[in-house]
Amino acid sequence: MNMKNNFPENFLWGGAIAASQAEGAFNQDGRGLSVGDVTPYNKNLNRKAINNHKIINNEILAAAQKDLSAENYPKRYGIDFYHHYKEDIALFAEMGFKVFRFSISWSRIFPQGDELTPNEAGLAFYDSVLAELEKHNIEPLVTISHFDMPLYLVEHYGGWKNRKLIDFYVRYAETLFKRYSKVKYWITFNEINASVFSTFKGVGLLKDRSEHFEQDCFQAVHHQFIASALAVQLAHELIPGSQVGCMIARFTTYAATSKPEDVMKMVHDDQYRNFFFTDVQARGYYPSYMERYFAERDFQVTFEKGDEATLQAGTVDFVSFSYYMSLISSSDPEHLEQTAGNLVGGFKNPHLKASDWGWQIDPIGLRYSLNQLYDRYQKPLFIVENGVGALDQVDENGQIHDDYRIDYFREHIQQMKESIKDGVDLLGYTTWSAIDIVSSSTSEMSKRYGFVYVDQNDDGSGTLNRLKKNSFHWYQRVIESNGEEL
Ligand code: BG6
Repeated sequence: MNMKNNFPENFLWGGAIAASQAEGAFNQDGRGLSVGDVTPYNKNLNRKAINNHKIINNEILAAAQKDLSAENYPKRYGIDFYHHYKEDIALFAEMGFKVFRFSISWSRIFPQGDELTPNEAGLAFYDSVLAELEKHNIEPLVTISHFDMPLYLVEHYGGWKNRKLIDFYVRYAETLFKRYSKVKYWITFNEINASVFSTFKGVGLLKDRSEHFEQDCFQAVHHQFIASALAVQLAHELIPGSQVGCMIARFTTYAATSKPEDVMKMVHDDQYRNFFFTDVQARGYYPSYMERYFAERDFQVTFEKGDEATLQAGTVDFVSFSYYMSLISSSDPEHLEQTAGNLVGGFKNPHLKASDWGWQIDPIGLRYSLNQLYDRYQKPLFIVENGVGALDQVDENGQIHDDYRIDYFREHIQQMKESIKDGVDLLGYTTWSAIDIVSSSTSEMSKRYGFVYVDQNDDGSGTLNRLKKNSFHWYQRVIESNGEEL
């Protein structure tokens, strides 16, 4: 038996973006409003606050629908990828990207979400994006739904709690598979565990509109599981050889101490925050630990006839996840200090440093996660988001010295390499993000993640010029050397 030492020859190096944070053009060519378009920018943002994102409620949503300007809602203009995609893709090609992960805006294709026929102008835009990628030999990795369901489906159907959304989603997915039949890699839902942890953008649910909010979230994600399983089957039928993945926000968690109670808390946190979502989609059935979880809370999740068989028939080909940070689990959290994190906050780990936004940086946690997920499913893994949000500065010569970003990526890639030696089957790595885009949680522009700097401020002012950061040249060498030169 030979140990694997390096990244495989065909390893997919690249970067990622999402439609609702990058495209802009929110009201052009027939596009309808999406849940992303109603998240306002908070001018008094406290970056270190545990929950610094705007929780959407009835009031915020009503105000957003009256204000159809772009100023207060940065995701409506993004970085204008809609008009800059050629220039941006050329930059990705210059870095040597083998793969580019992007999402399709559902409300560009079905502006309301419940139409019978798609919006041709919306479809044509992605024809152009895909043609550009093909020209540069970059493999597309397409997320079908990334936090931007049509707002109409929230207002008129009550979001994913309504079973009708399965049909709308399947019609949308089928339209994509038929039109973009050359795309091999697909992800059905971005961070499907957002259904419970960031419910408005995940499943279109508002706390102040629901009597049994938590139960509704689980009903909503059940509908997403079914929609995803149906989409997997359709993709296999319509695009032979296609590979479809599930995707979670991976909340890596460690026991705060060796106290058995803390370890048990860690096991439960892992099950409820992570594994429930991947277990259903990778194994094709609900894990037994959820029976107790639902029973103790008196949650009723309605299954219709045939749902069990659908889940079984629609298991995914690969498991993908975002990885930014890790947290700790404690049975006695009273004296622990809190810190922020992706979608959820948690407790501080004294052994780790954190980003400017309080997300704890933990490269070894990536290796731990890769090992855990591979041991559990024995399916190929894909890291589809990993990166650090930072306040980049442009110097007088137009240079951006983002060494902290290079350090972050270097340390994470080293751990990916260790995981490959551990035997993990890793398909690829798409960093977050390929280029600066509007932040999902805070709608800021100044929380930057890309290799390419976009000259745009939090209030939308700026030239939109694209500048290469130091990390751009560094990543170019990493890809060229297939991960050898770090
Ligand atoms: C993930 C999302 O949760 O984290 C992305 O899939 C998001 O859309 C990323 O941008 C980073 O989060 P944020 O809030 O810093 O943009």
